[in-house]
Parts: sequence; structure tokens; C-alpha cells
Amino acid sequence: MTTLAERAPAVRGLAFDVEGLSLGYGRAPVLRELDLAIRPGEVLAVAGLSGSGKSTLLRALAGLLAPVAGRVLADGVEVAATSADRAMIFQDDGLLPWRTVRRNVELPLALRKTPRAVRRAAALAWLDRVGLARSADLLPRELSGGMRQRVQLARALAGAPRAVLMDEPFGALDAQTRAEMQRLLLDVLRDTRATVVFVTHDVDEALLLGDRVAVIGDGAVRTVIEAGEGADRADLRARVLKEL
Ligand SMILES: Nc1ncnc2c1ncn2[C@@H]1O[C@H](COP(=O)(O)OP(=O)(O)O)[C@@H](O)[C@H]1O
Ligand SMILES: [Mg+2]
Repeated sequence: MTTLAERAPAVRGLAFDVEGLSLGYGRAPVLRELDLAIRPGEVLAVAGLSGSGKSTLLRALAGLLAPVAGRVLADGVEVAATSADRAMIFQDDGLLPWRTVRRNVELPLALRKTPRAVRRAAALAWLDRVGLARSADLLPRELSGGMRQRVQLARALAGAPRAVLMDEPFGALDAQTRAEMQRLLLDVLRDTRATVVFVTHDVDEALLLGDRVAVIGDGAVRTVIEAGEGADRADLRARVLKEL
């Protein structure tokens, strides 16, 4: 059997350049004149308190929210609308309730007019990868919260996106399921070179998953911390908490 890495088209992670970006919903801006460079293929965790504007920033990266000022570039091209290149994963799963697990995962491929047999095989391979090979024919309502998040992950990655934008995807899961999902995510991301932006209010989750952690607060990026292997976790944690 071929591995997913062999089967999947070789994607290159998107580079994002956030330049002088201000975002808001009409009144005072939520984020003001943000500058941030997101490297191709990295996992950037975005940490911040509830209400600090994490989801707002992610919406702008996705092309769901137009800037008040400034711009977002993806590989040098201004982001003006959503794109299949940039997959979103939310806390609420957004699976289609009337479609089986397999057919949910096939969706991004169906939208690209991938032939039926190819998309079916790809969906089953991704479901196997996230530990759901035996749940392919179930409906979303027959799954636990953790299983639904696995389906979302499989669906996002089946489309071979160049960036995956994740908004507190494990926020509603119990502690043990959440830890399992974090391990699965780290493991599965080795099969893809996509750039990942992972939003969380949980500092430990940010430090576990991120190659770097951007801390946002008071409408700005307070700091960006390198969080790779070998760093002193307690020291990093203190540095993040100081900026929140
Ligand atoms: N659709 C919206 N309309 C108006 N205000 C919003 C909307 N979404 C978020 N906000 C406001 O923007 C601020 C940042 O929200 P959000 O980006 O959701 O924060 P976070 O994801 O960090 O918790 C909050 O003050 C929130 O009330
Ligand atoms: Mg949010």
C-alpha cells in the first residue's frame, strides 16, 4: 500500500505576509496595524485571551473578513476571498449531517471535480490515517465530538490545502480526547507540508503544537516566540503569560 505522503500531491506551504492589518466590525478596530510574517510549512500557534481577536485574524487569513486597513498576502497575492488552498477547521464541526463520514471527507475533492474512484480512495486513506477507517459509512450524528474533529481534519487535508487554519478546534473536547487529538495532529502534519495557523487560548496547547507562538493582546501582536524542540517549556510559558 502506498503511504499518504506518496499518494498526496506534493504541496508547498503558503507564506503569509500580514502588512499593517487593521480589522474590526464597524466600531473601534479589534486589531490595529498588525505586521506578521508566517513562514511556509511552519505551525504558527496564535495565543491570546478570549476576545483578543484570534478568530478575527484567522477570518482575515481565510479571506472571510475584509481588512479595514492593510492587507494579507498569500505567496505575495492579496487575499480577497476564500480559496480551496486555505482550509478552515472550526470548533463546531460544520460537517454536512446528511452525508456519511466518507462523503464528507470527499467534499473538497468533489468540488475540484476529482473522479469518483480517486476521491473515494483518498477519503478512505485519510480516514484510516485519523483512525476512523471503520466509521466511513456512519453519519456525523453517530460520532463523538473527538471523532467529528478527526473527520474535519481528514476532510481538510484530503483537499491537499497549502494552508490549514484552525480555530480552537479542540476547545470543546474533554482533556483526554484533546490530548489524543493534539498527538494525532502532530503526527498527521508530518504527512503534509501545509502551513498551519492554530488559534488557541490555551498557552500549553500553543507551546505544544507551535513551531512559533504569536501572542496577541490589546489589538496587536505582543511577541512571537520560537517554541521548537529543546526549548525550556517553563521559561516559554512564563514569557507567553507575561504578554497575555
Ligand atoms: N461578527 C462580529 N460582530 C461584531 N463584533 C464581533 C464579531 N466577531 C467578533 N467580534 C468582537 O471582536 C472582538 C474579538 O473577537 P474574536 O476575534 O472572536 O476573539 P477571540 O477569537 O480571540 O476570542 C470581540 O470584542 C468580539 O466581541
Ligand atoms: Mg475565537
